[in-house]
Amino acid sequence: MDDLRDKYIKLIADAGDESTLEDLRVQAVGKKGEISLQMRELGKMSAEERQVMGPRLNALKDEINSALAAKREALADAALDERLRGEWLDVTLPARGRRAGTIHPISQVTEEVTAIFADMGFAVAEGPQVESDWHNFDALNIPGHHPARAEMDTFYMHRAEGDERPPHVLRTHTSPVQIRSMELQGAPIRVICPGRVYRADYDQTHTPMFHQVEGLALDTDISMANLKWTLEEFVKAFFEVDDVELRFRASHFPFTEPSAEVDIRCSWEGGQLKVGEGDDWLEILGSGMVHPNVLRAGGINPNVHQGFAFGMGIDRLAMLKYGIPDLRAFFDSDLRWLRHYGFASLDVPTLHGGLSR
Ligand code: PHE
Repeated sequence: MDDLRDKYIKLIADAGDESTLEDLRVQAVGKKGEISLQMRELGKMSAEERQVMGPRLNALKDEINSALAAKREALADAALDERLRGEWLDVTLPARGRRAGTIHPISQVTEEVTAIFADMGFAVAEGPQVESDWHNFDALNIPGHHPARAEMDTFYMHRAEGDERPPHVLRTHTSPVQIRSMELQGAPIRVICPGRVYRADYDQTHTPMFHQVEGLALDTDISMANLKWTLEEFVKAFFEVDDVELRFRASHFPFTEPSAEVDIRCSWEGGQLKVGEGDDWLEILGSGMVHPNVLRAGGINPNVHQGFAFGMGIDRLAMLKYGIPDLRAFFDSDLRWLRHYGFASLDVPTLHGGLSR
């Protein structure tokens, strides 16, 4: 029995892994193991012999079992140590780069326009997108019967049955912000008003929601000459060219008198827009001297103050400057489009740092 004990204690101590240990368990104390077979012999012994051998065999079995258990635990600990060493992770390593989001061309162009006009002393003003009929039309010298109301493809808000007041509208242009700015600030004033506007229209160059930026400058001695200079400075800065030629075409808007639509000289050679050269003209905005009725609606005395206003499409500016052919794609939220036409998020446009670089 001592030989058996020494043999197994040594084999268990030397076992290098779990499966060797399991084999040893079967060999020693398994059903047909050496020790189990010895125990079966007890039946053939005399009662006296059995009284001596029985407890000794049981003790031996217990000893082997606890040696196996202790060794199993030691092997598990060693395996865990090994695994911890193998799976060690340096959490101080730099993270893998993530794909950064981009700035939408509309936001980019709005920032560019804002930077240019800020440099000329214009502040940014804002107004609501759900606008009163009065601010969107009447105050801008567009009375109820005026054809401009029909031309604008206006979206009207709902009014409760029996409510006779004119319904609010989704503003059809940023010009109502002129009125709100005059109401708030009076004159003199220099503001631009970028924002969303709405008209029921949908094709390659029209979406029901689009963006405009309005300009308004009032003082005691402002003329068309100031308007011309301001727009020339703007176009040069925006298209990042040294020279441009503007064409002021007589036009009509109810809220300005006189009114002018402004075209810039350009070329479309090879399908590529070049501003400042060539024989084509590109219409980019509407403008004029603010109509006295509009000044009065905004609480300004037209005998003291006068000035100019202009309005242009931000989306159109973005399409022209960055060669984007279809306006509808601007608002599809297609990630491939956004990655292609989007701008780096930390490159804020400034006049000294560069607008689009
Ligand atoms: N509100 C006009 C439009 O939406 C643009 C404009 C603004 C024209 C200011 C003249 C002066 O087309």
